[in-house]
Amino acid sequence: MNNEKKQLVLLGVTGSIAAYKACELVRLYQKAGLDVKVIMTKHAQKLVGAATFRALTGHAVATELFDDPGAAIHHISLAEEADVFVIAPCSANVLNKIAHGIADDLLTTTALATTAPFICAPAMNVAMLKNPLTHESLKVLDHAGVTIVGPGEGYLACGSEDSGRMSSPEEICAATLRVLARTTDLAGKRVLITTGPTREFLDPVRFISSPSSGKTGFALAREAKARGAEVVLVSGPTELQSPLGVEYVPVVSAQEMLEAARAHFDSADIAIFAAAVADYRFAEQLEEKFKKGAGLPALELTENPDILATLVARRNATNEKKPFVVGFAAETENILANAEAKLKAKGADLIIANDVSDLKIGFASEHNRVCFVTQGSREQTELMSKEQLATVILDYILKKL
Ligand code: CTP
Repeated sequence: MNNEKKQLVLLGVTGSIAAYKACELVRLYQKAGLDVKVIMTKHAQKLVGAATFRALTGHAVATELFDDPGAAIHHISLAEEADVFVIAPCSANVLNKIAHGIADDLLTTTALATTAPFICAPAMNVAMLKNPLTHESLKVLDHAGVTIVGPGEGYLACGSEDSGRMSSPEEICAATLRVLARTTDLAGKRVLITTGPTREFLDPVRFISSPSSGKTGFALAREAKARGAEVVLVSGPTELQSPLGVEYVPVVSAQEMLEAARAHFDSADIAIFAAAVADYRFAEQLEEKFKKGAGLPALELTENPDILATLVARRNATNEKKPFVVGFAAETENILANAEAKLKAKGADLIIANDVSDLKIGFASEHNRVCFVTQGSREQTELMSKEQLATVILDYILKKL
């Protein structure tokens, strides 16, 4: 008989219509060899009975702050026991409360008390999701190191097809297993990451840029930090919040990005260039707004420095072996051939190629599928979330170090 203690998922279920899917999630956790205890809010109990979760998990379901006379302080004992704390579904109400440290029932108090890795799978009506207050709360949680899974798009309880739907139990289970499997295999390593677009201004109100969201670079930074690395994230303008504990260097133009990356390159063990750098800037930047009426402007462009190539050349000139340099190739055609050409031309150790003409992946999408291209090898990944991809990319890099 296997007497090894199972890892415990503490699953918080809130009053979202997706609460019934948490039953399926419990089953998936159990199939993966995990033990599950459930906390339900009052509203969740209106949608699914506590008896259901009790029967599924074989444990009493916790519902009240003071409902266990046996435990000295119930929320603290639950918080301490958990190997991972998951709230799925997480309603707008609970999400906004935990983001602001409000602890007025058993679930939110446990959320504040736990030091276990924390995963949150929001599920709510699209208007609530798009409300700026919810938007801010998601950023706060993300910054605090909470793993946010979804929400995705699909049929919502209010009858519309929109975003706000809880991610599938399979996706939430996979994210939980990833978090539990995390090791500190990057401890002692310094990782430099560039991400986001750059902006090349013509005048104070106009610029050249790209639709890059920066998500891949931020996900890499979060994952590398969680695996013990010291991380410097040099980012062009994005909507995203830098992960807690990461050294964040905001920049605007390619030239600023080069300077910031240069300052951290030599001390890095791994340098990942995920930024969508504008290849050109205006030869002249105007101090005042360009006015109409003076005929078509004669706009002259000049080439920006290639940040990756410049820094690799500097590494090679000093015969340094480190950092291990990773570039991305955002392509719309001849993807692998172009990626191989970039590997050679830029001198990177690894190029991660992706097809940005496919709207389901790349730039502003939540998902991506890439191919790892090194000298003499190609390895294609599945389609996966950018968070999962961050794990796969770091695993791949570690194998090559
Ligand atoms: N890159 C960079 N500095 C630049 C341009 C690109 O550091 N001025 C890096 C990117 O961060 C990426 C890799 O080089 O890691 C490839 O970027 P990509 O935009 O795919 O290619 P380009 O070199 O710009 O070439 P092209 O636009 O012709 O595809």
